[in-house]
Amino acid sequence: MYGKIKNYELNGQKLVIQFEKQEGIVEAYTDEIINVFCGFETKDHHSKAIEGEKRKETKVSVSRTNSEIIYSTEKLTVHIADEFKVDFYDKEGTLLCEDYRGKRAYAQQLSEKSLELIRAEGHDVSGENELDYKIQIVKKMQGDEKFYGLGDKTGFLDKKHYDYEMWNSDLPQAHTDAFKALYKSVPFFITLRENCVYGLFFDNTYKSFFNMAKENEKYFYFGANEGNLDYYFIYGAAMKEVVQNYTYLTGRTPLPQLWTLGYHQSRWGYETKEEILALAKKYRECEIPCDTIHFDIDYMDGYRVFTWNEEDFGKPGEIIKQIADMGFKTVTIIDPGVKKDDNYTKYKEGIAGDYFAKTPEGEVYVNAVWPGEAVYPDFGDPKVRSWWANNHKYLLELGVRGIWNDMNEPASFNGELPQDVVFTDEDRKANHAKMHNVYGHLMSKATYEGLKELDKKRPFVITRACYAGSQKYATFWTGDNQSLWAHLAMAIPQMCNMGLSGLSFIGTDVGGFGADTTGELLARWVQVGCFSPLFRNHSAKGTIQQEPWVFGDEVLSIYKKYVELRYRLLPYLYDLFYEEEKTGIPIIRPLVLHYEEDKETHEMNGEFLFGESMLVAPVVEQGATKKIVYLPKGDWYDYDTKEKISGNKYFLKDAPLSVCPIYVKAGSILPNFLPMHYVGEIELDTLILNVYPGTGEYLHYQDNGEDFAYRDGEYNLYRFAQKDGMLTITLEHDGYDKKYKNFEIHCGEEVKQIPFTGAPITVKVNG
Ligand code: GLC
Repeated sequence: MYGKIKNYELNGQKLVIQFEKQEGIVEAYTDEIINVFCGFETKDHHSKAIEGEKRKETKVSVSRTNSEIIYSTEKLTVHIADEFKVDFYDKEGTLLCEDYRGKRAYAQQLSEKSLELIRAEGHDVSGENELDYKIQIVKKMQGDEKFYGLGDKTGFLDKKHYDYEMWNSDLPQAHTDAFKALYKSVPFFITLRENCVYGLFFDNTYKSFFNMAKENEKYFYFGANEGNLDYYFIYGAAMKEVVQNYTYLTGRTPLPQLWTLGYHQSRWGYETKEEILALAKKYRECEIPCDTIHFDIDYMDGYRVFTWNEEDFGKPGEIIKQIADMGFKTVTIIDPGVKKDDNYTKYKEGIAGDYFAKTPEGEVYVNAVWPGEAVYPDFGDPKVRSWWANNHKYLLELGVRGIWNDMNEPASFNGELPQDVVFTDEDRKANHAKMHNVYGHLMSKATYEGLKELDKKRPFVITRACYAGSQKYATFWTGDNQSLWAHLAMAIPQMCNMGLSGLSFIGTDVGGFGADTTGELLARWVQVGCFSPLFRNHSAKGTIQQEPWVFGDEVLSIYKKYVELRYRLLPYLYDLFYEEEKTGIPIIRPLVLHYEEDKETHEMNGEFLFGESMLVAPVVEQGATKKIVYLPKGDWYDYDTKEKISGNKYFLKDAPLSVCPIYVKAGSILPNFLPMHYVGEIELDTLILNVYPGTGEYLHYQDNGEDFAYRDGEYNLYRFAQKDGMLTITLEHDGYDKKYKNFEIHCGEEVKQIPFTGAPITVKVNG
């Protein structure tokens, strides 16, 4: 396909290689990030995921042997051979990743007769996929690889022996491990071997295929039939560094507004303002903290976006104001499909401005979603994005505080959009095949930019569909899960892998969206939800209601316990977001991220870390009241009993319905807020410090929780350190005037109130 190497040239740090049939490029972005490129479709990258100049000045050198070109940075050496075979080594000369030289071949080949029989009953024949994509990268298995990431996929933490597709899909059936794709496409994964970890990011927006040594134990591959060969080898001395490097390249989640980290209630089924008001009142009456109520599609007039259903929801905005007076923030859903209706302003504006995707013949392309016949804004066109962005003025003026983007795969009720529907890709035309996987990305980018400009606050945008890099603009939920125990169990590896793929602000529909939940399932789900960055109970029309009070007093009190825990932990969670914005290290982490040398963590599907200090081992099995817990090396404290446990072992933990096993690493200092019903209710002038004896340091961040003033230095940073039974508190950055007035230090049974003046403090804590 490429032919033999003819010659090469080094332009700055970019190595351009002339093969007999193609030109290949190898280019260092940093010492640890190398791009491999061949412009089959375009000469430029034209990336949706990578924005801004990410190439850092990097010292490179090139040499040539008989058979290879050798290209080096300070950290990596890349060997390039005929047919554009590319191998990566570290500085010590250890092989990290090499191209497979053989041909792809199924490990198991069925006879045509067997295939016919299998197909006759309507089964898919596994391994019937094409052999050889136009663009394909086949890497040799060294044997002990584990694979992580790939965005939002079903199944288990380790993706080895599974295959996936990147094609944003809205599938109503219950999501199982057999699914190849869900709503999001993040073509990035991490490979972990003994003493070796790296990531591969295939920046190609067309439908792409990932096979993690399922086809054949000898190799793993990714490929596509269109677009460019454009992938990044991302190195790191540890998995954390690979995640840092990947998010350096594709961006990180900016710090959110504090209230968005509170608890959210939603349901596709609240059909009137009376229901919303009753819901809000019930929350306050039960004293379950709640910040946000989501308005699903019924608030709109006939599902026309940027309109209001006055018949059922009253005067536009009135109900928003009413619940705002009780401390609730409103998030409204906005779908991309614009109703085809000649009397509807947004449709008319879109037609007049030429804002909608077209058929190849030049007609506006029509499919159907909730409002019936609908057309699709062409979000790849900057003028369409700015029109869309400005449309949010209407909602913001009604008091809306956040936007929930749904159906943006894009979903379509009359079959999938044909591949040749014409969209815009910034300065050029592109077809649906190319723009499909970035449709949700571009929609949330438009929404983010609109809210930022109009509201000046940190935009809160939730999206269902996305591409790599969407984390710069949005928060994600895993779409239409169901009230199934299997989906609760799956939520753990699903969120862990999303986090490793740059998607940090994430959550599942607590209680499950489709199907009917039970009290027990809801109680267990809230125990996972309370650690999910996006903590929202949401369910579908026609399913059993699943607000916390539906299943009686026991479930209600368990629910309350975990929502209250969430609110206590808000400052800790906010600190994790502060860290995330700087490093890209996610909030929910698989154990392997911090303990990669410990093989027990490599396939740990039933536990996760919430930041580095907390380990959560939820019960996700019906009827279970015990959990087999694994704690990695070091000392830990049981969150409930305060018992100290040495790690590096499994044990059985009693976990009745009211208990979610939680462990805190010795030496941790966990900041907590005082109880509240919603963010903004109380002055946050007291910070509780829960000290878990040991040696450790902790950096705590504080700002106004709303706007971008922190980027101009308006924030405080406190350093807490404990050693030899002494705790010190120092103010390391002093930029936000509302400093804490008090610290309340909890250590074991002991509580100490310490007024704070800004000067360093040292106190004795029980060891
Ligand atoms: C889709 C969304 C779901 C929403 C429903 C109605 O199914 O995934 O969350 O409630 O549409 O808008």
